[in-house]
Amino acid sequence: MKKVLGKIIAGSLAEGFSVRINPNIATEEIKTGKFVSICSAKYKFFSLITDLKLEVSNPDILLFPPETHEKFLHDTLRKRDIYAVAQIKPMVILNEYNQVSPVKIIPPHFSPVLEVDAEDVALIFGDEKQANKRYFNIGHPLDMTTPVCLDLERLVERSNGIFGKTGTGKTFLTRLVLSGLIKNEKAINLIFDMHGEYGLQARKEGAGESFVKGLKTLFPDKIVIFSLDPESTRRRGGMPDVEMELPYHAINVDDVLSLQSELNLHQTALESAYLISSKYKSNWLEALLTKGHDAKEFAQELGANPESIAALYRKLKRIEHLPFFRKTAGDLHATNSKRFSVIDQMMEYITKGKHIIIEFGNYSSTFVYLLIANMITRRIHAEYVAKTEKFLGSQRKEDEPQKLLITIEEAHKFLNPIAAQQTIFGTIAREMRKYYVSLLVVDQRPSGIDPEIISQIGTKIVAQLNDEKDIQAVLSGTNATGFKSILASLSSNKQVLLIGHAVTMPIVIETREYNEEFYKSVSNIFDKKPIKDLIEEIY
Ligand SMILES: Nc1ncnc2c1ncn2[C@@H]1O[C@H](COP(=O)(O)OP(=O)(O)OP(=O)(O)O)[C@@H](O)[C@H]1O
Ligand SMILES: [Mg+2]
Repeated sequence: MKKVLGKIIAGSLAEGFSVRINPNIATEEIKTGKFVSICSAKYKFFSLITDLKLEVSNPDILLFPPETHEKFLHDTLRKRDIYAVAQIKPMVILNEYNQVSPVKIIPPHFSPVLEVDAEDVALIFGDEKQANKRYFNIGHPLDMTTPVCLDLERLVERSNGIFGKTGTGKTFLTRLVLSGLIKNEKAINLIFDMHGEYGLQARKEGAGESFVKGLKTLFPDKIVIFSLDPESTRRRGGMPDVEMELPYHAINVDDVLSLQSELNLHQTALESAYLISSKYKSNWLEALLTKGHDAKEFAQELGANPESIAALYRKLKRIEHLPFFRKTAGDLHATNSKRFSVIDQMMEYITKGKHIIIEFGNYSSTFVYLLIANMITRRIHAEYVAKTEKFLGSQRKEDEPQKLLITIEEAHKFLNPIAAQQTIFGTIAREMRKYYVSLLVVDQRPSGIDPEIISQIGTKIVAQLNDEKDIQAVLSGTNATGFKSILASLSSNKQVLLIGHAVTMPIVIETREYNEEFYKSVSNIFDKKPIKDLIEEIY
């Protein structure tokens, strides 16, 4: 039997409805963000509680509040005159055939408001047991244990965001979502793993186990690790599948554009970079690094401004200290536009359905992260554009590219209003799924992301945010009044608001625990007995 929480007493479609909470329910039992239903004769409306307040039938009562010891008076008032009111805003309707539709009608006066049950949750959010591996359990509603599922097929149709202030569980959630996509084969993932948290294992704060398994550990034959710092990968007990080496000529001027705000590069310095590249083509960086120390002479040769050349040289010189970049031997004037082999290798793996984690090891500065992520993404995207065009030409099913989801942390550094206009990540977010590539952005400062890009984000998974600007940024484009107070009342860890394309309606959940039980449900490494046990069995 579902618990009746109260009755609808007033409201409108635009503003939401007021629910008078029943006197037998303690006010403290009801939380904002709670998932509830309203039952009318033909329909069930579903909603979250967005706000709670205290009301009184006659203001005079407030002039003489009962003393603590006047229990009888207090109980009598509670029966009729003092009560709590919850604010709710219905977001979907189920009809008598259990079909879901948007809300265009209102429930009548005094419709009962009920707790939802497991069956309701499964009807609205899908059920993992349904066919096609479409749904993936990501957590459960507050005060319930029934799984809330993401619709993975809808998820990969758009770019998505995981937001929240530091320590709220973004990286853990990202690993959950990626595990779902890998297990159910809904997209190939390319993960730029800035802090080494996705591959083998990651640290876990707090009591209990201090490490959790990474994706390579859970899906050993589905994931390939590309490492910029193989030593660090090995120190942590792993073996990189590919040790990355990138020639200078793989960096082109557009890749440097993405560093503009990080390096504080002036427009004239970028113009100089274009001047060098128009003369030296793909060897422009090598030319800059070998000739730029004498800025005056080099500037004269190019017809550039010596100060800009000097600034560009000074700022890009640090590339020389990065061991994974290799100078290409040979004639500076050669126009060597050959693709670099790391991309070929990546595309080969992607075509075989493998997921790629790029580990940065000790080279986890923003400078390196931005540069590498831009270089690689630009080229992978170009490959995908070519693949897609081939598919559109042939219309053969086997030519259809697999969807690719690119995960980046610190997304505002890639997608701030300046970068989003100029760099590949902005392009991908804006063109949506046209070329089968989309983003999974993870960020603690969503207000730093270009508003146009945020509005293109399909599904948002939002943990606690304190900054008013950040809250505004994540909620922009959703016509959801009331979510502000829900966001403000989320707990600081493992609680999120799910909103957007991959869920039928917004909902607050407790995130699924990333633990042994989870590993067993997504990974098959536990099916095989460890060799030690097999040996023991034999003898
Ligand atoms: N789903 C989960 N299962 C188990 N533990 C979790 C989960 N989510 C969060 N935690 C706990 O919260 C801690 C912080 O989570 P996480 O590292 O994902 O935060 P974050 O938002 O990525 O922080 P930062 O912005 O600093 O990177 C974890 O170390 C872990 O102890
Ligand atoms: Mg993190």
